[in-house]
Amino acid sequence: MIGLLALTAIPTVTGVSLASSEQRKANQRKEEARRMVKFNIVAECNGDTDDDRELNGMVVVVRDEKVYLADPDPAKRDPPAFTALAFYIEYPEPEELKYLKRERGLGLPTYVQDNPPLLNWIYADTETYELRYGNRSQSVEQLVEPWDWDKNERVISLAKKENRFIAVEEEEGEWALYYDRDGDELARVLEEQDLLDCAFVPLTLVRKVVEEKPPPPPTAQPAAPQAVAPRGQS
Ligand SMILES: *[C@@H]1O[C@H](CO)[C@@H](O)[C@H](O)[C@H]1NC(C)=O
Repeated sequence: MIGLLALTAIPTVTGVSLASSEQRKANQRKEEARRMVKFNIVAECNGDTDDDRELNGMVVVVRDEKVYLADPDPAKRDPPAFTALAFYIEYPEPEELKYLKRERGLGLPTYVQDNPPLLNWIYADTETYELRYGNRSQSVEQLVEPWDWDKNERVISLAKKENRFIAVEEEEGEWALYYDRDGDELARVLEEQDLLDCAFVPLTLVRKVVEEKPPPPPTAQPAAPQAVAPRGQS
């Protein structure tokens, strides 16, 4: 009798665990989709120096393998640079390191050009602490994860720190981004690079979600009526 009960119980148990693993997968897909929402990155500086006011509201851009702040209007950028368009996705462990069975955290890929579209990883150089971008072989040995957001999904962090981003004016008007890994306001790394005399501004990096453009209509049909409530009825 006990044997029979035990036997009939098995399918039920399997059914339950199957359902919950389906549920888990569905939740995971939902979470991944939320993480993959594309965003621009905006600098927030609350200080009251001229530099704070200048940098507040600037956007993160990429050029020459480095990450900078620049005017939100691309036409006003000199030199020209591409506006970072980023999202979160797990950083893939390369084949040759998979045997370590490490969990990698979320990486922060960004488009670095439009046409053809090209994605690269944003990382902090482990020697200089500059924020840079590159493909996997350029980034894998660097501080490339875990990137994250705060509980409001707004403020960006790297290695669990959101208050360690610093803009350094490497050349007149050219603000490069750094990650203050040691918490010494970059004193050591800037000295090593002979940049101690440069102005620098600690700041917060925040997400500014970009609406995805709907795909273009398949053929040259007249535009579908827009699903908007008629005026004056709300
Ligand atoms: C990664 O980028 C470097 C420098 O641009 C290039 O030399 C290398 O071929 C790239 N690697 C891959 C796998 O694309």
